[in-house]
Amino acid sequence: MNEYRLEGFFINKSYKISNDPSGNGITLLARHGDMEIMIQPVMEGAGIWFVPAGDNSAIEFFFVHTGELYVEHEGDIITFEPGDSFYTQGLAQEIFMKAKKDSILIYVSSNPVFKLTSDFHEELTKLIMQINDKDNYTFRHSRNVLRYSLKLYERLKTFCTDDTDSNLAIAALFHDVGKIYIPDEILKKKSVLELNEYKKMMRHPIDSARLLGSHFNDRIVELAQGHHERLDGSGYPYGLTEEEISFEARILSVSDVFDAMTTDRGYNEVKSFRTAAEELVRLTDKFDRRITKALAQLVEEEAFGPDDFLEDRQELERLKDKGGREDKGGGSK
Ligand SMILES: [Fe+2]
Ligand SMILES: [Fe+2]
Repeated sequence: MNEYRLEGFFINKSYKISNDPSGNGITLLARHGDMEIMIQPVMEGAGIWFVPAGDNSAIEFFFVHTGELYVEHEGDIITFEPGDSFYTQGLAQEIFMKAKKDSILIYVSSNPVFKLTSDFHEELTKLIMQINDKDNYTFRHSRNVLRYSLKLYERLKTFCTDDTDSNLAIAALFHDVGKIYIPDEILKKKSVLELNEYKKMMRHPIDSARLLGSHFNDRIVELAQGHHERLDGSGYPYGLTEEEISFEARILSVSDVFDAMTTDRGYNEVKSFRTAAEELVRLTDKFDRRITKALAQLVEEEAFGPDDFLEDRQELERLKDKGGREDKGGGSK
């Protein structure tokens, strides 16, 4: 911490700002007595809860270093940009702040929170990093599923059970953590799975639920566990049917399969956003039509950004043949 020999002058050069906040947990910069000064990264789409503290004199101060966050309160949206700051003291109700972009906050607390927050954050980061080490696809997939789920929630809020999208967001990000127990040769297999391999694969929603159960509420556990269930009962692990699958779990299953169809997993035919969404709309026995229709509409509006990992390959080939344009980076994401 103190590299230079200047009495009473403390310097810390250990923290490196990263462009990808998912790789960095909350970091302690300095501590004095109970007071702690920290860096808190928040990934796009994720958020932080502020909860009333037992001690009303305690202060939690935040400075927005990079990114953009917002709080929704009684229909108003309060946005926080770099340079903005806020603090809580004697908070009367819970507040959920969400990151619109990857954000970094400087966080000063008059009470020690670091250990508590960092243990929690560290375990989650560890989980997701474990998946990333095992299989980089699952990590990117989790972020995509989060993105699609949140857009669908926003559009279909009236049908949803939860008042905020925070349960869905956490479930979406961690729905496949149970895959850490799947042997590599199955997880990374580039061809269709044998029946016994498929049976092992089918366990992962139960393992996800078990892992999340030690951190999160039952609702999050239920959503993550239900991401492979289908309305007609043909899904797994429990073969649940219509009324047993909540609306948010249905959103998660549509987002999950949409990403699987539109990204390269090494053995599948990669589809464009539009083709995938149209196919899902037709599968009315398996997926909620309200959700697949909203998905198709979002694709039409390019709400997820350009379909850059596929575009139309033939079109790309045609352009190449004409000898003009550059490859747009199509193929896998
Ligand atoms: Fe899954
Ligand atoms: Fe998944």
